Amino acid sequence: MINIVLFGKPGAGKGTQAEFLKDKYNLTHISTGDVFRYNLKNDTELGKLARKYMDSGDLVPDELTIDMLKNEVEKHLDTKGFLFDGFPRTLNQAEALDRFLATKNWEVTATVALEADDEILIQRLLERGKTSGRVDDQDEEKIRNRYVEYNEKTAPLIAFYKKQNKFYPVNGIGTIAEVTERLSEVLDIL
Ligand code: AP5
Ligand code: MG
Repeated sequence: MINIVLFGKPGAGKGTQAEFLKDKYNLTHISTGDVFRYNLKNDTELGKLARKYMDSGDLVPDELTIDMLKNEVEKHLDTKGFLFDGFPRTLNQAEALDRFLATKNWEVTATVALEADDEILIQRLLERGKTSGRVDDQDEEKIRNRYVEYNEKTAPLIAFYKKQNKFYPVNGIGTIAEVTERLSEVLDIL
């Protein structure tokens, strides 16, 4: 069982890289952003609760997010490992994840972080916003708010995982294939 947290700022390439890594390492990919967007699209109760946060680029409250994540994990208990994409994003979530995995005798194996400069990523998201239909990609103010949220609430997780010797930073700038190669170098030695 290996459980990887794929970490990184908005637009760092978590979803893009997860598509390759999940097949290469036979992992179950859970993107909390994708699950929320599915709920938005289908106008579920969860979608109704999450929409106002997502559309303005704010994090969805921990309780909703943690319950949803647990629910997704419970659907795949026979897996060889998880690739968590976009979760955890707060200290609360990270602690909840540790406690939850411990109930299954599992743990986070490693947190692999895609590193990149905000300004490069903001350009990526503005570009994607032209076609993605994602409300949170539509204007620069909303995009910048996602980085404010990241800096305030998510960046403290770097120290959290470093303290556990589980933090592996990787340069997220380069071609998609180059970045996959760098991530693979880390995953291959776990
Ligand atoms: P989420 O869906 O997780 O969005 P995000 O992290 O803000 O950013 P992205 O998913 O857009 O970026 P990514 O790192 O996956 O990059 P991607 O591969 O797409 O979250 C959305 C919202 O949901 C949050 O704001 C919040 O409201 C809520 N939410 C989700 N999880 C939550 C949680 N745990 N707690 C609370 N709320 C939560 O790539 C981005 C772009 O760059 C693409 O166009 C791609 O083609 C391009 N690209 C990728 N790699 C490269 C490369 N190497 N070179 C050039 N371009 C590249
Ligand atoms: Mg993503």
